[in-house]
Amino acid sequence: MTKYAFVTGANKGIGYEAVRQLAEKDYHVFLGARNPELGEKAIESLGLPNVSLVLVDISNAESIQEAFKQIQEVTDHLDLLINNAGIAVDFNIKPSKLKVEALRQGFDVNFFGTFQMIQSFLPLVQKAARGKIVNLTTDMASQTMFDNGEAGPLNLLGYNSSKTAVNSLTLAFSKEFGENGPEIFGVTPGFTTTDLNGNAPGGKTPAEGAEIIVDYALSETNYHGKILNKNGIIPW
Ligand SMILES: NC(=O)c1ccc[n+]([C@@H]2O[C@H](COP(=O)([O-])OP(=O)(O)OC[C@H]3O[C@@H](n4cnc5c(N)ncnc54)[C@H](OP(=O)(O)O)[C@@H]3O)[C@@H](O)[C@H]2O)c1
Repeated sequence: MTKYAFVTGANKGIGYEAVRQLAEKDYHVFLGARNPELGEKAIESLGLPNVSLVLVDISNAESIQEAFKQIQEVTDHLDLLINNAGIAVDFNIKPSKLKVEALRQGFDVNFFGTFQMIQSFLPLVQKAARGKIVNLTTDMASQTMFDNGEAGPLNLLGYNSSKTAVNSLTLAFSKEFGENGPEIFGVTPGFTTTDLNGNAPGGKTPAEGAEIIVDYALSETNYHGKILNKNGIIPW
């Protein structure tokens, strides 16, 4: 039976490379993009027959419903939902200088968007033999690692707290799903040089970042209810 994966925010960066890697493993991959032109461009540059474009703006409930309908016309099950779409709008802004609008903007996409994606696509993921939901997170969202200095020097209240909230929903959904599935877990690729961080030098390439996500997504090991970096489980 064909395996299906949906990766949001996949017209560039880590998501784009995750699509390529999953397609090379014979998944039929839905490449999520909010901008039609950027989505088409990504599809063309990949040039893979088993990748198709699905327009989705995860901050817009109607757009999520349209994406659901489109995917449901192709398949009755979704083996992998990779909630990769995300934004960081507060690089170089101290918490005391952060505008509440920016804080809301980050939560709107990273937290509320991911939440609505999970709720909407759950019926399709539940129909897969071993459905999995993977939420992108960051070690800066681990309160333990941020507090003890293991997550680096950045103090991005907006981005980090929205991803801490994503961790919280990962845990909450995992408790609801229990042993019966689907599996849900969070993964951080670690510092990866992409548009998200203004292409800051010294990070992994998007392909290297994506490999960490895809390895966990395809792993035989069950990581239900955990958050992970490339070395394994990280603390909340
Ligand atoms: N880069 C890192 O060091 C790093 C580290 C840890 C975690 N992460 C996480 O990895 C994920 C991918 O990030 P990246 O580094 O690859 O960033 P990126 O290159 O900026 O890509 C982000 C993607 O998300 C899309 N997106 C943004 N808002 C959206 C919305 N409302 N609806 C749908 N798509 C939306 C963007 O679309 P547009 O092109 O239209 O803007 C783009 O395709 C994010 O969740 C990020 O938090 C990244």
